This record gives sequence, structure tokens and C-alpha cells, in this order.
Amino acid sequence: MTNTGGPQLPQERRIVTAIPGPESVALHERKTAAVASGVGTTLPVYVTAAGGGVVVDVDGNSLIDFGSGIAVTTVGNSAPRVAAAVTEQVAAFTHTCFMITPYEGYVRVAEALNRLTPGGFAKKSVLFNSGAEAVENAVKIARQFTKKQAVVVVDHAYHGRTNLTMAMTAKSMPYKSGFGPFAGEVYRASASYPFRDGDTDGVAAARRTIDEIEKQVGADNLAAFVIEPILGEGGFVVPAPGFLPTIVEWCRANGVVFVADEVQTGFARTGAMFAMEHEGVVPDLIVTAKGIAGGLPLSAVTGRAEIMDAPHVGGLGGTYGGNPIACAAALAVIETIEADGLVERARAIEKTMVERLIAMQAKDPRIGDIRGRGAMLAVELVTEGTTPNPDLTKAVAAAAHQQGLIVLTCGTYGNVLRFLPPLSMPDHLLNEGLDILESVFASA
Ligand SMILES: Cc1ncc(COP(=O)(O)O)c(C=O)c1O
Repeated sequence: MTNTGGPQLPQERRIVTAIPGPESVALHERKTAAVASGVGTTLPVYVTAAGGGVVVDVDGNSLIDFGSGIAVTTVGNSAPRVAAAVTEQVAAFTHTCFMITPYEGYVRVAEALNRLTPGGFAKKSVLFNSGAEAVENAVKIARQFTKKQAVVVVDHAYHGRTNLTMAMTAKSMPYKSGFGPFAGEVYRASASYPFRDGDTDGVAAARRTIDEIEKQVGADNLAAFVIEPILGEGGFVVPAPGFLPTIVEWCRANGVVFVADEVQTGFARTGAMFAMEHEGVVPDLIVTAKGIAGGLPLSAVTGRAEIMDAPHVGGLGGTYGGNPIACAAALAVIETIEADGLVERARAIEKTMVERLIAMQAKDPRIGDIRGRGAMLAVELVTEGTTPNPDLTKAVAAAAHQQGLIVLTCGTYGNVLRFLPPLSMPDHLLNEGLDILESVFASA
């Protein structure tokens, strides 16, 4: 397989100091003194380079990356095409503001999104900076189109940290606690979480969710239903088959805009360009960010042209939205995904990882559930049955970090270990990362 990650770093795990090493410890002291303490740190190793499947720190350690900076560097860090495109764009011009004097890169990204997202109808796109900003704008667009106000989101949802998206996000700590009051007209309905609700019939689960919406909100008031196709921060929860298609059908019959938040699941991550494709779901609007631009800040809302065109001229935008450097990066990301067959690579990673995780589960009943799609996989850890085991989750993550494997946790109950390797990860590192996990589980 092509190693699409650059710079040309040795693709090896190399631990030469304690983790974190002395240089990182010194930098972390400065960080603690200088940076607001609300910004947490998962693993305080300070980075000097990253590419392929490794992250290199200031002490010379080379760590295996099962995090991709939270699902961002899907094509690899400083992927060669991205680095070249960004360098060229920086030398040409860095900013004019697309709303003042536009440029082709933005238009090309919009054209690419309109082509790549599900749905054979006429589409339009608008670009922003962060995932949360794009989610907010999807809601603005849906409200203008429907002339309605309510928004429904589900349990375990994560949509961001701005005021409206905090209201849409489910989990209080750390995302919302003490930051209210939150935006109004946001309502929460049940998600489909087969491991916890025990319901593998997605159609029945969707009917229950729809019933809640009809009773508590009413379709006549509802502008948009917003959902992640796989609940990300909520625990990599894949809804039972039939859940999403049933909800979409109801939205369509009731004049409700169905918005897919594919900020974490998008851009080849799940073994499809967009995760909604796994169930043939065609959203009205689709929100993208993270993997779209290989690490540069870019996000988008794409959807049915008639919905996207509802807001008045000047109603959408922002100083930096669709910055030319980020657009150059996005075009290089899309080229890399297509030229290097990264959708297929995500599926191959799924096969390797799931086989190994199933073998681990057979030896360890604390692995309650294995789930996800493509290179977006997770294990939910329990004491027994479905009782969450956040202590074990923390212990396994910490032990993996000590051995030079970057893994992240998530989940409403803090008991999910998630794996998001860059698709540029070579097989030998993928397997070495899994060896570390196996040994950590054996001793935790
Ligand atoms: C599904 C989903 N939506 C929205 C966001 C917010 O994106 P950002 O952090 O770029 O604002 C995230 C970030 O993790 C996410 O996973």
C-alpha cells in the first residue's frame, strides 16, 4: 500500500525516554502556566513531526498514532499532496475573503462536495472553519427554508462547543456544565444504542424516537433533525439497521430537513466516503469538517440546492470561511483519497482490527462490545453485563500511552476506547499497535 503520509519519517515505534520525556515535561510546565486550564491534554508529549502512522515528540520518541488528531489527519499528517498544495497556495495568496474578492479554490471545493456527497439532485455548498460553525449554519439554513424553529438531536450526540452546539450536545461534563444558558428550541430524542437498549430492530427504535418527537415537539414546529450516522464522542455507537432510513423517511414526509453531521465520520474514515452511504441514506444537508482538509481548518454544509439557497444574500459567511489555503488542502485531500484508494484502505483496516479485537474479547469479558466502521472503531468496556468500566478504560489508555500508542477515549460513560488510525498507517504499525493493546489488556 502507498504510504501517503509525509514527511518521510521512519515508520517505527521508538521509545527513548519515559512518556512524557524531560523536554515534554518542561514544555508542559510552560503550557500549564501560559494556557487557560480549561484546555485539557490527553497525552502531554509535545510534537515536532508526524506522518504516515507516527507522531514524533521533542524527546525523540516516535509514537504509533491511533488518534489522527481526533479523526482529522485521515490521509496522514503532512500528506505529500496536501503539503505541496498548501505551500503553493501560501506563496500565491493567503486571504482575500471569499465574500469580498472570490477565488477558484473555494468554488472547486464546493463542486467536489456537491459531486461526492450522497444524492443525485442539484446541490450547493458553503464553507466555514470548524465543525461546530458548520452545524450552526446547517440549522440556520434549515430554519430559513422551513420557516420553522425547532431542532431535534439525540441522546449521546456531540455537535460542538459553541452556544447552539452546546445545546445540541448531550453530555454535560466537560462540554456544557456551567456554560449555560443554552440556545432555545433544541429538543432531545432517543438514539439507537443496541448494546445498551438491547434493541437490534432499528425500525422499531426509530418509531419510538419519532413518537417522542411528535408528542414533545410536533413536525409542524420542527425545522431540522440533526444526527451523526455513528455517534462519535458519545461512544462510536452504530445505530441498529433501519433506524436512520426510517427517520429520514419520516422527515421527508413531514417537511423536516434531515441533517447528517458527518464531521467525524466523513471523508473515507468509515470505509465509505460518507457514513450515511452504508445504509443508503441520502441526507438533505450534510455537515463536514475534520478529515476534509488534512489538518487545516475547514468545514462545510452541502445539500439540496433549494434548501441551501433559502437564506438571503449576505446571510451566510464569515471572514475566514473557505480560506484559500484550507481549500487547497481539501482539494489535495480529495485527490489523495481517490488516487490512493483510501476508502478501500479504511475497509482493510477494519478487517485487520476487528479480527484482532474479537480475539481479545474472547479472552477478556470486560470488552463488552466492539463496534464502528472502517478505521473508526471502538471497544466499550464493562465490569459485567453493560455496567460501564471507566476506570479500566482510563487505565488501558494510560498504559498504551506509556508504551508509545496514542489512543483516545470517549463515550457518555467514559468507558469507550476509540481507534482512529490515519489511513496512511502501514500494516506493521497497525499490528504493533494492536499487540500493545493486547498486552495492556492482559495486564490491566
Ligand atoms: C460529530 C461532530 N460534530 C461536530 C464537531 C465539532 O467540530 P469542531 O471541533 O471542529 O467544532 C465534532 C468534533 O469532534 C464532531 O465529532
